[in-house]
Amino acid sequence: MKVLVIGGGAREHALCRSLSLDPDVTALHCAPGNAGIAEVAELHGVNALDGAAVADLAAGLQADLVVVGPEAPLVAGVADAVRERGIPVFGPSAEAAQLEGSKAFAKDVMAAAAVPTARSYVCTTPAEIDEALDAFGAPYVVKDDGLAAGKGVVVTEDVEAARAHALACDRVVIEEFLDGPEVSLFAITDGESVVPLQPAQDFKRAYDGDQGPNTGGMGAYSPLPWADPKLVDEVMATVLQPTVDELHRRGTPFSGLLYAGLAITSRGVRVIEFNARFGDPETQVVLARLQTPLGGLLLAAATGNLAALPPLRWRDDAAVTVVIASHNYPDTPRTGDPIEGLADVVAQDAPDAYVLHAGTRRDDSGAVLSAGGRVLSVTATGADLTTARQRAYRAVGRISLDGSQHRTDIAAKVADQAAEATETRGA
Ligand code: AMP
Ligand code: GLY
Repeated sequence: MKVLVIGGGAREHALCRSLSLDPDVTALHCAPGNAGIAEVAELHGVNALDGAAVADLAAGLQADLVVVGPEAPLVAGVADAVRERGIPVFGPSAEAAQLEGSKAFAKDVMAAAAVPTARSYVCTTPAEIDEALDAFGAPYVVKDDGLAAGKGVVVTEDVEAARAHALACDRVVIEEFLDGPEVSLFAITDGESVVPLQPAQDFKRAYDGDQGPNTGGMGAYSPLPWADPKLVDEVMATVLQPTVDELHRRGTPFSGLLYAGLAITSRGVRVIEFNARFGDPETQVVLARLQTPLGGLLLAAATGNLAALPPLRWRDDAAVTVVIASHNYPDTPRTGDPIEGLADVVAQDAPDAYVLHAGTRRDDSGAVLSAGGRVLSVTATGADLTTARQRAYRAVGRISLDGSQHRTDIAAKVADQAAEATETRGA
């Protein structure tokens, strides 16, 4: 099968890496891609937001499957344009992608499907904003209604900061604060059948100790040894299947990847947000553990054949990924800095650790330069989280990028807890 992947971040590099390892994938293309993806796929300089251009490219390549990675092309209707040409596409329609594109739409679907989530108000005037902030009290949770690449949400104790963010948005969702650890659970769906992947945890804040501003995600790990083994079944029954059923009932079925961002609160599981695509950086760790070939799975979802697919197979390994971000991320990231040490990781750490590229490009001399806020996602596997974590950080240590930043505590707490639990059992 010939596959075309749309996008150019670390998530798309992870997708391309897994697709390149699938024996059924005979040709792999990506648009626009990045310097790392160029090593496993042929790149095409097509604007990912232009549905007609993407459909033309897919038709020209005789692609059997198009996989749309990021949210912006999905919300812009790129999957619709490809589907209209009769080419199977992994990714929801523009209408169904509103589950991510509009927080207010997502709240409406959840209310209709009785999916547990934070109580919320949708506000458009200063008076409504003040009323909502008063009603919930601190900590305040204020979300821009539209797409904001993980940066439209402000969680703060400071009512003035909450009000200022709310006033800067056209339409804003103000909601109840949810306490408790967060889990990202992805499900593959064809609009009717739903197949959950393994849960992962993301680190959203920019700095160690969960300090600093929200980002797109600074690192992730999977599995979650602390999570209830029944979590996936519970979320399937209370969140994923009801949401897919509700969109089907509305005549706008959701096919592709449904991402549930969850809070495990003292009162039970609550949805924090939905995304309409694979999460980044969680995908890097989830796909590192998936044994089932990816191409067949995505094609089954794109063609409505998920029900016939055998159960997914998973490696026993744990996986950790650490994001290296550029100077000043997430504010105004500096780009164009040279990245050194990539070959050392290949020479010394492969296959246990490898670098997935996010914002990178090659200059005329062939040097790899930073080209975005999140630059690299250094991913490693191991028999347990401690080993995977050590391998990831060892590889991070070989890379140099002037002014770059990364968190040093990705999966630190969970690895320690898991190691202690093993010791206690052994004693
Ligand atoms: P979102 O873009 O909706 O995922 O929000 C980004 C991050 O803000 C989440 O991953 C949480 O860490 C935090 N957040 C969002 N909504 C809430 C909430 N209701 N309660 C507590 N934290 C939240
Ligand atoms: N890592 C969070 C996201 O992909 O939205």
